[in-house]
Amino acid sequence: MAAMVAAHFPLLSFDTTDPAFVADPWARYREIRGLGGVVFNERINRWMVSDFDLNKQILSAPEIFGSERGQMEHAAVFGGPTMEFYDGPHHDRIRSIWSGDFRPRTLARLRPVITEIVRARLDPVTARLRDGETVEVVSELTRGIPTEVIAHMLGVEPAMVAQFTAWSDAMGASAEGYSMPNEHGAELIAAGKHATAQLNSYIRDELPRRSCPVADEWDLIGTMVAHEYACEHMTEQEIVASNTQLVFAGNETTAKLLAQIVATLAAHPDQRRILQSDRGLALDAVEEVHRHETVSHSIFRDAMGESATVGDIRIGDGERITLLLGAANRDPQRWEDPDTFDITRRKLSHLGFAFGLHSCLGMNLARLEAQIFLEELIETVGDWQLAGPLDYGTNYTVRGPRQVLVAAA
Ligand code: HEM
Repeated sequence: MAAMVAAHFPLLSFDTTDPAFVADPWARYREIRGLGGVVFNERINRWMVSDFDLNKQILSAPEIFGSERGQMEHAAVFGGPTMEFYDGPHHDRIRSIWSGDFRPRTLARLRPVITEIVRARLDPVTARLRDGETVEVVSELTRGIPTEVIAHMLGVEPAMVAQFTAWSDAMGASAEGYSMPNEHGAELIAAGKHATAQLNSYIRDELPRRSCPVADEWDLIGTMVAHEYACEHMTEQEIVASNTQLVFAGNETTAKLLAQIVATLAAHPDQRRILQSDRGLALDAVEEVHRHETVSHSIFRDAMGESATVGDIRIGDGERITLLLGAANRDPQRWEDPDTFDITRRKLSHLGFAFGLHSCLGMNLARLEAQIFLEELIETVGDWQLAGPLDYGTNYTVRGPRQVLVAAA
């Protein structure tokens, strides 16, 4: 696809899967800002937008910058189309089925369950740290927490949780595979597709069991299956894919946020001490880690029709735009000293969960999990430090450390 645009526009060419860029994308973002905030990356044949305001404008206009053209790629990832790639009323109706379940007040009832899940994983890690061991917290702590939470919410029976976790891990790893142009990448993608097919099949088999929900057995699969709109207007494939999407959309992202919380607060003991003296700042600290590092580092939209402009640049019909949410969250026009990690900074909304029509359905769940995780971490581990370099791999779309080695401080 060639860029069909106004005569003058800034060009850049860089590889977004280069581990050096994924580990430290901030200089590149400053360069894009210096070029006006909108550039065309010839290497990946996409526009890239770094400014907070421009990203928000794009996200506010789904009729001009749409998600639907990504439908085919998306269906392959989840085993069918989901709300994320519909822009019309069908999106709103599917989203409304679960929107009540993801409100803060509804989610508050999950606090005891989430706390139990966090403690079960954190307690052995804390004991090992106290014994002077070094622990790799992604594999041993953070990765499993969101998977167990969503398994509980979907009503996965306890005997299946280990298998469910293996499918979720394989799906998460496949995202990394797409950014690796080698044999290992191809293996990860194949394993992810296999896991998606198996999870699809598991959910499909669960549907009949959920069609007559028992009052005290609430779960998300049952909520959708029993909903009038789903019965009349969603295909079985859409219902299965929608539930699969929750596993994929929620686990890798939230696990990376938890890992980033451990890593960022290890690197900023001054901020950790502020939190220790005022535990009420846990949610502020979560938001600041999220703003500062931004897990969903980039998303995309496609220009629809001839009227798409970003800033003063016209984008041709069908051209793809990468929204650099990580860059937007460090936009100096919006935040003072944006590169400084400061949990007490003035609260301003960030784009870590995007904005508008497709803003993250699970944002309050992710926040609650991260808040409980951080509260427990501060309470039990107290002080910790990095015991090795962070490895960010090759995936800048869902960015976060693949490995975090930690020791007690
Ligand atoms: C830190 C954790 C998370 C991050 C950073 C994150 C980020 C995002 C972002 C940026 C989007 C917008 C995508 C776009 O506009 O193209 C999104 C959408 C979505 N997220 Fe999340 N997410 C997280 C956790 C979760 C969780 C826990 C769930 C559910 C269990 C979830 C479910 C969804 C769904 C269903 C959508 C599509 C919403 C729609 O199309 O209306 N996410 N997420």
